[in-house]
Amino acid sequence: LPADLYGPSRKNSAGTELGHEASLDALVKDIAATKNFPDAAPLIDGKPQAGIARDVRSPIDNKPIGKAIEADAATAERALLAAKVGFRAWSETPARIRAAALRKAADIMETRRGLLIALLQSEAGKTIDDAISELRETVDFCRYYAAQAEEHFAAPTVLPGPTGEENRLILRGRGAFVCIAPWNFPLAIFTGQVVAALVAGNSVVAKPAPQTPIIATVAIKILHEAGVPVTALHLVPGGTEAGAALVAHKDVAGVAFTGSTATARGINRALSAKDGPIVPLIAETGGLNAMIVDATALPEQVADDVVMSAFRSAGQRCSALRLLVVQEDVADKMLEMIEGATKELKLGDPRRLDTHIGPVIDTAAKQRLDTHVAAMRQQGRVAWAGQAADLGGTFVAPHIVRLDRVTDLTAEHFGPVLHVVRWKAGELDKVIDAIDASGYGLTLGVHSRIEATVERVAQRLSTGNVYVNRNIIGAVVGVQPFGGHGLSGTGPKAGGPHYLMRFATEQTVTINT
Ligand code: NAD
Ligand code: ALA
Repeated sequence: LPADLYGPSRKNSAGTELGHEASLDALVKDIAATKNFPDAAPLIDGKPQAGIARDVRSPIDNKPIGKAIEADAATAERALLAAKVGFRAWSETPARIRAAALRKAADIMETRRGLLIALLQSEAGKTIDDAISELRETVDFCRYYAAQAEEHFAAPTVLPGPTGEENRLILRGRGAFVCIAPWNFPLAIFTGQVVAALVAGNSVVAKPAPQTPIIATVAIKILHEAGVPVTALHLVPGGTEAGAALVAHKDVAGVAFTGSTATARGINRALSAKDGPIVPLIAETGGLNAMIVDATALPEQVADDVVMSAFRSAGQRCSALRLLVVQEDVADKMLEMIEGATKELKLGDPRRLDTHIGPVIDTAAKQRLDTHVAAMRQQGRVAWAGQAADLGGTFVAPHIVRLDRVTDLTAEHFGPVLHVVRWKAGELDKVIDAIDASGYGLTLGVHSRIEATVERVAQRLSTGNVYVNRNIIGAVVGVQPFGGHGLSGTGPKAGGPHYLMRFATEQTVTINT
């Protein structure tokens, strides 16, 4: 494998070390220097478009932080046509120049960290450490995919052939790619999809989630500034109407989607209902992520890892722990420690440095979670409940809920609600089968000191990311390629060596010499 991709010379971004006082002070100053946020608007060929204006409100206190002009179906269709026109010149731009634009964008993002982190906090409700890691991940995606493109797209691969024949394999962009992102990683996932599609030679129409249009606009403008032509990259803020119009368009060459499994199914149906070419869908979706803990696990470590996996980012990571499956013999002790550690978490304004849990994204998300917790309470299943902050925003306190069986958890509750099931010694296979039966396969944790148990679990469950004796969140680009199977997605894995290939066509040229 090429040394620059996997060897010691490929480095992930250093980010900011929160424990280093001078670095933290400098970051806090950068964030404080951001007084106002720009507005969001559709950008076609770099030009802002008209549309319906609305306030973008912070989940922290429901106060407006800026305006977004949202695209309707007609604007989305014009953006797609513009991308179709822009495709040719961009696809013929050498891969090393496309890659250079990504690297430049990464550098600009690092220098604009104050604005980006302030937006991650105010628009998406992220705590400082979540915002720092999201910026790092974004920068890492840019640099990693740039290196991948230089490795695989810059020149044809020469393949063996009989004497008198030369075989070449050439990777090219597919055409106008639609990238549809969720709000929970409004910078990292949004940018990751877009730069992967671009560096593989596609033009792009990017549709961010309606909750986070401002940071998306900033990211697109940075990519333009870094050298991606405005004709190759267009932005369509908006909701279902704009997204559905893009997917339905006859000239879409591919769709990269990250979001809920239900939306992915809808997109899949819309794509397959169209006449014309079969359009590839790269879908990264939800999970019913479990952690299996046996009696040999270290209780302190389990408590730390459970709390981190279930409650960090207010449980709003697709990778977050939803179901703790703990062996009966140690369950009481483990749960006592988990509750103790959860009590220490501080809920509140994520712009404060000492806050551990910020708000959930919006009122609809809060209502869904409150409804679930109320139903669990009615059934007498709430084992522990925290106290939500009252700042006028959308806060949900951490909850621990008891279930009888693994199969009782049937839906992804996207927030700080941990479900717990106990299992008896000798029932590990039953537990594995029940987790498997959900059909999801995104992340999985195993806490055990018995090697055979770890191997059995990892082998029997084809979950995308398996974490042993640690927490189950925070996959690192190029180190822990991320993504799941079944109801959790189509693959390939983001931040992994095969990701760019799915954005490309392969052409074999055989020359009779
Ligand atoms: P969502 O499915 O509601 O929305 C995702 C995006 O799809 C948004 O931009 C939305 O506007 C758009 N959309 C909605 N309907 C559409 C349609 N008919 N056609 C085209 N686009 C449409 O998801 P969300 O609430 O934004 O995000 C949370 C979900 O994302 C969770 O289920 C989470 O597990 C999942 N997620 C998965 C990953 C992963 O890598 N597997 C990463 C992050 C989030
Ligand atoms: N890649 C993100 C994580 O691993 C979703 O937490």
